[in-house]
Amino acid sequence: SARDWNCRPNCAGVADLQKVVDAIAAEMAAVEERGKAADYIPALARVEPSSFGIAVVTADGRRFMAGEAETSFSIQSISKVFMLTLALGKLGDALWRRVGREPSGSAFNSIVQLEFEHGIPRNPFINAGAIVVADAVLERGQPLSVIGELLRFVRFLAEDEAVEIDIEVSGSEADTGFRNLALANYMKAFGNLNNAVHDVLNVYFNQCALALSCRQLAMAGRYLAADGVHPGTGRHVISAARARRITALMLTCGHYDGSGEFAFRVGIPGKSGVGGGILGIVPGKASIAVWSPGLNERGNSLLGSRALERLAEATGWSVF
Ligand code: DON
Repeated sequence: SARDWNCRPNCAGVADLQKVVDAIAAEMAAVEERGKAADYIPALARVEPSSFGIAVVTADGRRFMAGEAETSFSIQSISKVFMLTLALGKLGDALWRRVGREPSGSAFNSIVQLEFEHGIPRNPFINAGAIVVADAVLERGQPLSVIGELLRFVRFLAEDEAVEIDIEVSGSEADTGFRNLALANYMKAFGNLNNAVHDVLNVYFNQCALALSCRQLAMAGRYLAADGVHPGTGRHVISAARARRITALMLTCGHYDGSGEFAFRVGIPGKSGVGGGILGIVPGKASIAVWSPGLNERGNSLLGSRALERLAEATGWSVF
């Protein structure tokens, strides 16, 4: 059933949203402590640390942008949302035999729980879980065709053929991805990867290197806010029930061991990436993308989190 798109009584009317995002961008421009950009992937360290962008797409199709909303950045772990969507479309709920749905309380690249939990990752948004999801999507295909399929899917979602994969980032990631190699091999030893480790990581490194602007990312996330329907075509990308479940996982697991804090402060399902982006989904109301490369100690965008906190305050868009 269609949800209503109206704000709560205490929120700024949608008509004021441009003022809201302009004020947020102005506030973020003045912040001195901006966090530190990820440098464990050398190609990520070259971004301009002062960058900030925000894009909001509302359910009625209006767009509100401020700051560097048209600059593309490496979406990194945000790609896990799109791959999970593809995996659920292909395998259905059988996927949940291989990956859990609980927050890990551990860092995104942690290996500790895998031994006790027999190679079954806690959730699809930590690296181990995303590697299993990539393996599932790869099931009967070739790495290059799966990467192409994901790229076409994200272009379709964003309604923009200009979305690309940054091969400098994926190459850099492959050169330095020793932890991911360890995670994948460890799960392979438990029988939880069906394809060759090399092929699975080829997919994973390329999905992380998807480069989108805030505008493109907010457009791409709309189906999650719209009960699984792609607003551009009216087509069901995924069922309404699965869209709800993906957003539930974004809320509980989307910021790794910072998920509780993000839910506490912002109250909007969100998925972060180490490139400094966050995709926020307000069911029935809006899809939001923010980007600022400086990260907090949990690997989540410092200013991006703060911007979403401000947006939630101004609009009443917390899901609580
Ligand atoms: O696996 C990695 O190291 C990265 N390519 C993706 C991790 C990521 O974005 C975690 N985020 N906060």
